Amino acid sequence: MLYTVPVRQTICWLYACLREYLPSALPTHRTTTSIEQEEFFAMEVIIKENPEAMGKLAAELIAEVVRRKPKCVLGLATGSTPLPTYKELIRLHKNEGLDFSRVTTFNLDEYVGLVHEHDQSYHYFMWENLFKQINVNPKSVHVPDGMAKDIPAFCRWYEEQIVKAGGVDMQLLGIGSNGHIAFNEPGSSLGSRTRVKTLDDGTRQDNARFFKSMNEVPKYAITMGIGTIMDARQLILLANGAGKAEAIKQTCEGPITAMVPATVVQLHPKATIIVDKPAATKLTRDYPAEPRVLVLN
Ligand code: PGA
Repeated sequence: MLYTVPVRQTICWLYACLREYLPSALPTHRTTTSIEQEEFFAMEVIIKENPEAMGKLAAELIAEVVRRKPKCVLGLATGSTPLPTYKELIRLHKNEGLDFSRVTTFNLDEYVGLVHEHDQSYHYFMWENLFKQINVNPKSVHVPDGMAKDIPAFCRWYEEQIVKAGGVDMQLLGIGSNGHIAFNEPGSSLGSRTRVKTLDDGTRQDNARFFKSMNEVPKYAITMGIGTIMDARQLILLANGAGKAEAIKQTCEGPITAMVPATVVQLHPKATIIVDKPAATKLTRDYPAEPRVLVLN
């Protein structure tokens, strides 16, 4: 904690120098001005009672973006954590007419080597748990292609499509028990872009519950990079369950380090971390149950 602030200040200073002297090294598709970014320079931590309440709040924050900007770009995540959020978004669509017809989506990651129809592929997950049940245009949906023949070319194309769409307005994130975001495992470069990553043994073990045996769990994945994620205008990171408590403690109160990739969220100008009580057990400071910084209109 003692050296968290100097590290953050140093990174902010480096970022400011790059922006001043070498702007071409920085992403260009943010549309907020530096004044707007500074106005929102904040990371909020919110503790909810349970995963359903987390999902309700996350869905409301996402819905707010969709209502305000019907042609928005959403960054989406897979895993068990975002399921209540997707359930609530589907409810908002069906019962309250939340309209996704002009929304574009980009998913964070996909296993290498699983066909889209495989029931553990993230393509399959997204269609089953969200896309089929809302009115998103299938042509506006993007999930990395784990079957791409030329994966580096695909990754470049994916990055280009995000820029072409105008950048991600709101990115939803889960977190691994090892602190990964998307499949950016510990040690990933904080400036990384979409690429292939080798999955950690711990991640493969965490995900083995979805496969018949450990042998079937893929070893590689295509993932948006940490730099790609940080380009989104707004982030929501969700975590529930005691298994995430240590990763959440590091993410909210630890020093920024590539060894816990989620800690980089501390540098984002507009990030909301929503956790349930078991995931919050190792936090030492007081956090509210409702957003303060990101007030809902
Ligand atoms: P989970 O995965 O939601 O299934 O816990 C989250 C992650 O690994 O990012």
